Amino acid sequence: MLEYSGEKLNVFQGLSPKSLIKRYGSPLYVYNEKIIRENCRKMKSLVSYHNFNVHYSAKANSNLAILQIIRDEGLMVDAMSPGEIFAEMEVGFTPKQILYVANNVKKEDMLYAIERGILMSIDSISQLEQYGELNPGSKVALRFNPGVGDGHNKKTITAGKGTKFGIEISIENIVQIREICKKFHIKIVGVHMHIGSLFTNSAVFIESVKIICGVSRNFDDLDFIDLGGGFGVPYRKQEGEEGLNLPKLREDLDQLLYAFARIYGKDIEFKIEPGRFIVAESSAILGTVTSIKRNYGIKFVGTDIGFNAFLRPAMYDAHHDIEIFSQSKGPKLVEKVHIVGNICENSDNLGENRMIPQTKEGNIVAVMDTGAYGHVMSSNYNNMLRPAQVLIRHNSQPVLIRERDRIEDLISKDIPIEL
Ligand code: LLP
Repeated sequence: MLEYSGEKLNVFQGLSPKSLIKRYGSPLYVYNEKIIRENCRKMKSLVSYHNFNVHYSAKANSNLAILQIIRDEGLMVDAMSPGEIFAEMEVGFTPKQILYVANNVKKEDMLYAIERGILMSIDSISQLEQYGELNPGSKVALRFNPGVGDGHNKKTITAGKGTKFGIEISIENIVQIREICKKFHIKIVGVHMHIGSLFTNSAVFIESVKIICGVSRNFDDLDFIDLGGGFGVPYRKQEGEEGLNLPKLREDLDQLLYAFARIYGKDIEFKIEPGRFIVAESSAILGTVTSIKRNYGIKFVGTDIGFNAFLRPAMYDAHHDIEIFSQSKGPKLVEKVHIVGNICENSDNLGENRMIPQTKEGNIVAVMDTGAYGHVMSSNYNNMLRPAQVLIRHNSQPVLIRERDRIEDLISKDIPIEL
């Protein structure tokens, strides 16, 4: 196993962004293997409770090379779709190491998991009934909605009132679940929750763990309780933002986990399923400054990182620190600018009112912390090419882990008609 010194790691690991762009083209996702490995280890040692496992939530980044590293670190995985299951099995995850977290899925998708012996977490009574018909005599996990949620944006809160996720905790629902289980001889082996994505204060998470432990006592045959993901990372490092307080989280969680195991009378397994925490800070997307202009009093720095390449700022108003790399040496004037992309929509904004050193066309720009929900949310909108992905290995060598789209790819699935 590779050992790391614990020093503060930098995504580029001493390599020049300019030379990476020169070699692989612009824009370009750059990832750092060491950072991914370190984050895997931080999550694996989140608690001292011994029966504890981490499932990486592959929706954050499902590139095969990234999945390989995570598997090598001994994590298991979650899947949201047959497509994620497929990618995970391609890199060697076994069915037992995969949890299929299914939200409103079709019967074909259920069958994909059933045929491979992959456990599902089911998120409604309606889907439990369908599952029972398809796979009587089997085992499942159930996702409950603890009634409270958290996240960086309304769009990423996945529990509490007004959200479509999980089964509401009520006596009637528990009774109905029991009836369905009896009818189809189904055993509930797991209870699952996920309150949302990106909390940096763990108070709501801890509250929801208590609630989910409470509902778990209704089930006698549990092997595990899955507490979900959502563990936040600091996106405003330039302003000194700190990350999650892991020692505090460890203390709070340990107490609850040990207490539950005592009451339940079994050293039940606890799982978490982080995505963002593992990969977000391992990456930056590099691009090139393509134009500079002033429009009615605002200075715009145009780049080739459109929201087809990186969607989070346009979709969630998400903040990402931005760095500029210029070739010219010496002090530069700092100025306030809007940094934008090359898509024909006004939401195509990487950062508004950013204070950056004066820049010019051809400079390299880095949008930081793009390893989670970056490339996986990219698209071909405006018939743009999705960027390549490069991994800086532990020995500081960059390797290509996904090619840039080719222009022919853009029309490869279209079927022209006869005229
Ligand atoms: N488990 C379940 C059931 C989930 O739905 C998710 C994320 C996770 C785990 C992992 O959450 P994480 O640890 O990564 O926060 N595209 C949004 C984030 C959407 C998260 C969806 N579910 C963004 O860019 O902020």
